[in-house]
Amino acid sequence: IGKTIHFYESLPSTQQVAKELALNGATEGTLVISDEQTLGRGRLARAWHSPKGTGIWTSIIIRPKIPIQQAPQLTLLTAVAAVQAIEEQTDIDVSIKWPNDLLINGKKVCGILTELQAEENQIQSIIIGIGINVNQQLTDFPEELHSIATSLSMEVNDKINRAKLVQSLCFHLEKLYETYLTLGFQPIKLLWESYALSIGKQITARTLNGTYSGIALGINEQGVLLLETSDGKIQHIYSADIEIDAL
Ligand code: BTN
Repeated sequence: IGKTIHFYESLPSTQQVAKELALNGATEGTLVISDEQTLGRGRLARAWHSPKGTGIWTSIIIRPKIPIQQAPQLTLLTAVAAVQAIEEQTDIDVSIKWPNDLLINGKKVCGILTELQAEENQIQSIIIGIGINVNQQLTDFPEELHSIATSLSMEVNDKINRAKLVQSLCFHLEKLYETYLTLGFQPIKLLWESYALSIGKQITARTLNGTYSGIALGINEQGVLLLETSDGKIQHIYSADIEIDAL
């Protein structure tokens, strides 16, 4: 991963460029990175603030030969790789909020967006978009993010070397991906759960079909969140915004 790198000074979104490269046959592990994004995208059609020279805004192409239903596993795998890379480079404790937000002291430092290209139910490519807030100061964030976002340098009071962090991200991603391809999701699931903030906690999950509250039990083989509601039923949460009610 990261043997071929396409670097840009500025792009609307690395996600779009990676998608086009993937359609044109780019090899697995190709990485697109930009110093700035003018139209960075997050999950659920949100914008992703990507100012120049401050963060890691990257999209990585992978082509796993797995059933399409297992694709969400790669998002969780990426979250684990990002935690490992950040912890290695900064010594800060990072935790994961399901499905793929990385938090430091409750504030978001990294987000992951995976998109899939398929033909006849076969995965052609998965584009993993990773955004890490690295060297922003509080004033670099829009006002509405001040209470919910942070950057690595704000947490360590020092500038972080972005090149080293990207290198470490590629290293951990590749190692976990190889583990995944040879041993399956189970070892990744265990690692993910060890970093997850919400497991065993009372949470509220807002989904398109309604809001559910209960205890987060963990994730299943597919990466679906299992929530035990007060009537003892187990809800499968496929996509939601979650809030941890009590830490
Ligand atoms: C989220 O938490 O909502 C996901 C954020 C993903 C942001 C990254 S930055 C690189 C890539 N290009 C984009 O436009 N988005 C992803």
